[in-house]
Amino acid sequence: MRDTVVRVTGPSPYDVVVGHDLADRLPQMLGVAVQRVAVVFSDALAELVRPVLDSLAAAYDVMVLPIPDGERAKKAAVAVSCWEALGEAGFTRSDAVVTFGGGATTDLGGFVAATWLRGVTVVHVPTTLLGMVDAAVGGKTGINTRSGKNLVGSFHEPAGVICDLATLRTLPRPELVAGLGEIIKCGFIADPVILSLVEGTDPSQLEADSPVLRELVERAVRVKAEVVSTDLKETGGADGHPGREVLNYGHTMAHAIERTENYRIRHGEAVAIGCVYVAELASRAGTLAADVVDRHRQAFARVGLPTSYSQASFDELHRAMRVDKKARGSQLRFVVLSDIAVPTVLAGPSVVDLRDAYAAIGGPA
Ligand code: GLY
Repeated sequence: MRDTVVRVTGPSPYDVVVGHDLADRLPQMLGVAVQRVAVVFSDALAELVRPVLDSLAAAYDVMVLPIPDGERAKKAAVAVSCWEALGEAGFTRSDAVVTFGGGATTDLGGFVAATWLRGVTVVHVPTTLLGMVDAAVGGKTGINTRSGKNLVGSFHEPAGVICDLATLRTLPRPELVAGLGEIIKCGFIADPVILSLVEGTDPSQLEADSPVLRELVERAVRVKAEVVSTDLKETGGADGHPGREVLNYGHTMAHAIERTENYRIRHGEAVAIGCVYVAELASRAGTLAADVVDRHRQAFARVGLPTSYSQASFDELHRAMRVDKKARGSQLRFVVLSDIAVPTVLAGPSVVDLRDAYAAIGGPA
């Protein structure tokens, strides 16, 4: 089957290629002006990265920068060690970075590329479903500090993104399911066909080589590409659309749950709970019909994602939501729906509605 190319437009346009066994696409994306390539990859993927290294070695001088797996990569110390390695190698503006791994790897590697010599070319090769449909597209890069996640970072758009579905063959099932959380979110905020596909497919069929999974990835990437093409820096949309903020659908509660769980819950799982929460909130605020709230619960539950939460008091989660960086001043802001694919912003909902919505997803009284 031919590869699919989704174009991200805006100030620095680039392609997101979706398909199988795509390592040979890399030199084409990096171009002939590049001389050396630093490959930043999760050290858990030393085998999986080989085709990428081979493809690059045929065209460039390649240096390898293995980094710790997962969130352990998103530390200032890891960025420093990458900068030191680039410095020792005399890495210049005509050189480039390729990242290979999950969202944490593309965030860290993107940040290193954004900051080295004030910005060098980067191409992302995400190897998790979540990374393909979220972290790798849209140019957000960052690291964590003791005060919170992603508080240090920059916008640095890649020169291209390669979503090689073959890399999902070895992804543990719970990670794949968690990635479906962000895909279903895209269905609710922008593309109802995603919902029909999820509702009409036996969830066990959603695996690396399934044509339906491929279509879901393509559609979710298109949703994200369209949003970031018009509002890269999250300054707001037009005609009542929230702009890039729409991608945070369900995320205010999701981030609060992640903090409360000390990040032991997968992001996509927290997003599933957060989307059901915000649908319940929208129903209480009078914007969303009850059948669409039910559709949220059913779609996420169908693929095996959680839709309820009770492990914290409302007051604890409320406090955590208020420190979320998306809150503006003292007012909580939520992206809500008035129908499927009709997003808007709800600013300053009442504490009664916030509390009732939590009770509706299982929160203790
Ligand atoms: N993950 C949300 C965004 O890229 O804006």
